Amino acid sequence: MKPRSSNKLLPIAVLAGLSWILPENLHLAQVLPLMARPSQPEGDYDCWQTARIDPNIAPEEFSRVRTIFGYGSLIFRPGFPYKRMYPASVTGFIRRFWQRSCDHRGTPENPGRVVALLRADSIGKLDLGEVEVVGEVAKDDIVFGMAYEVDEADWPSVIEALDVRERHGYTRTLAKLSPLKRDVDNAEAVDPGLGTAVVYFAHEPENSAAYTGPEVIETTAAVIANAKGPSGPNDAYLFSLVDALESHGLPPDRYLTSLSAAGAEVPPPGHVGRVIATTFESREVLRERYKA
Ligand code: SIN
Repeated sequence: MKPRSSNKLLPIAVLAGLSWILPENLHLAQVLPLMARPSQPEGDYDCWQTARIDPNIAPEEFSRVRTIFGYGSLIFRPGFPYKRMYPASVTGFIRRFWQRSCDHRGTPENPGRVVALLRADSIGKLDLGEVEVVGEVAKDDIVFGMAYEVDEADWPSVIEALDVRERHGYTRTLAKLSPLKRDVDNAEAVDPGLGTAVVYFAHEPENSAAYTGPEVIETTAAVIANAKGPSGPNDAYLFSLVDALESHGLPPDRYLTSLSAAGAEVPPPGHVGRVIATTFESREVLRERYKA
């Protein structure tokens, strides 16, 4: 999906109209600087003011839920108060770095990549091209992450903040949580609170300019190696996620492991032009630099 182009004829039409209505003693050249505003390319990538709400979920269904499911940065940097957290999974989704990031791990000029959940049943509608051969895309439709139970009093402000944090192309929905298999085997450990959680996902990705479309992992790895945004380097996001899955005892994710490996193969940036970010530094270096 290409970014949407802005309407280039509109300013010309506005200027033509303006020259007719300006008072005689005010020249167009005096007005133009006042009209000059920075372009807003964020919008071209569907980086909205806040996340959208799934139109298929009734407001009263949302109002019963006090749990958030994190599968990306929310695993390694939740950033909100919670009463407790526990490992969980959602079924029927795949997790891919096919979401652009203009506001966290990239910029509108050089978008990075972050993970988004895609409904596995939407995969059939997407043109997978080369990826179908490479990625066995629809087979890994269980996504492991962390569930966070939030106190009633904190809930409104947590959701408000998350809606802003996940504004780049995400839609807030509800998903059923499942326990990890090892917890099912050990009935004592199954969390009695497991139920439904709020999750931010890529709704109708085929219509989203935040969505890159399916990519082979080498392409994604190259973008991640060279992007950096207000929340830090893009490769630190990937490594932190892989590390966090491990440290929380969650099953490894084959796709993320392959992507990390592909990242290690990305050649370092040359010295021509501006160096945007360091490339896939070792985990130890990144851990040291970005430790919480
Ligand atoms: C996100 O919450 O989507 C990204 C946050 C981060 O990059 O740390």
